[in-house]
Amino acid sequence: MVRPGSDKQNVSQRHTSSIEMTETKTTSLVSGHTASLLEGEEWAALIKDFPSYHGGLVRLFPGRWLYPQRFCDFSEKLFNFQFREEDVLVMTYPKCGTTWTQEIVWTMRNNPGLDHPEADAEAFDRVPFLDMDMFTPLSEEMVSISKAFKRLCPGADPRDGEMVQLAQALADPRTLKTHLPFSLISANVLDNAKVVYVARNPKDTMLSYLHHHRLFREQEFVGSLEKFVDHFVNDNLVYGPYWLHLKEAWERRDHPNLHFVFYEDLKADIMSELKRLDAFLGTGLSHDQLANVAKYTSFGEMKAREEKTLDKEFMNNEAFVNQEVRNKDGGFFRQGKAGDWKNKLSTELVEKMEKWISQKCDFGINFK
Ligand code: A3P
Repeated sequence: MVRPGSDKQNVSQRHTSSIEMTETKTTSLVSGHTASLLEGEEWAALIKDFPSYHGGLVRLFPGRWLYPQRFCDFSEKLFNFQFREEDVLVMTYPKCGTTWTQEIVWTMRNNPGLDHPEADAEAFDRVPFLDMDMFTPLSEEMVSISKAFKRLCPGADPRDGEMVQLAQALADPRTLKTHLPFSLISANVLDNAKVVYVARNPKDTMLSYLHHHRLFREQEFVGSLEKFVDHFVNDNLVYGPYWLHLKEAWERRDHPNLHFVFYEDLKADIMSELKRLDAFLGTGLSHDQLANVAKYTSFGEMKAREEKTLDKEFMNNEAFVNQEVRNKDGGFFRQGKAGDWKNKLSTELVEKMEKWISQKCDFGINFK
């Protein structure tokens, strides 16, 4: 989930990155990638459909990863982020069930009796979203958005990244969230922390990401479903390419500190998946405690808590959230189903997606 800075900073007040680009509009990142500012036809095609990215987009090579230019301001902090032994990092490409999984993991570790006084605090305050800072506009009048940041990081400058600083200040045991792939996160993350990686069927993921881009003005998309599918299969969506994100995790799936889970399996049999997670996390929960977690993190209960989890003021602010889309198609917790692509995609679009899957996801993963 992504949100802009504050009421004072609406999306028209965006400021670009502070990073210095060379004359050829490239910069080197500590991860070993070269970031190249999008220009010419590629830029013109994307900015037309995604007008909110007027702060600039970069491609990272190798990989052709697509990010807002401001990612370059945080890439070093993110790549050098110090993970601790008790950390659990929830990692996914957007819309694969991150928020659900982070709530499951946080509840299993902190609230299996459903009596934790901070359970109702905003998701960002309990589970910092490490890379969210790149979506926050850089401006002189910047104010912090996280209540926990104000409390735990007195005097810290939000322009240096609220989420990374909050994560650093948070006491153990930390549960953290990222949409970054393995290659952009500290190379030794799996030596120091546990990672829960969630994969989801690309067709449902794409449809959910389309909804996200229509709902949140910060990542506004103004084109058709057909156009969005084209952007998806051409790896033109921020945080993509999805196939490479998956591949990097899939290749590490046998690492003892990586737990690979499919959204569809969570939907099909939550208790079995919670038992697997319990073994991985070492939480040692009873059947009743796992049943508590399943109920508390069910789609219905999480949807009912949407305005607590994501900030009521933000969700009801037309400048940040398209209220027409929210009323018509649903909010952040849209429908929480597996396989709904069958009702939404034409034969032609299914064929396009299947072709992308067979060509790009050829490394052994089988979607459910
Ligand atoms: P839909 O748009 O298909 O409904 P992320 O958190 O990675 O952005 O993923 C969001 C997707 O997960 C959305 O999918 C959202 O509804 C779904 N989701 C969130 N909480 C859920 C829950 N408790 N159970 C099932 N799906 C959930």
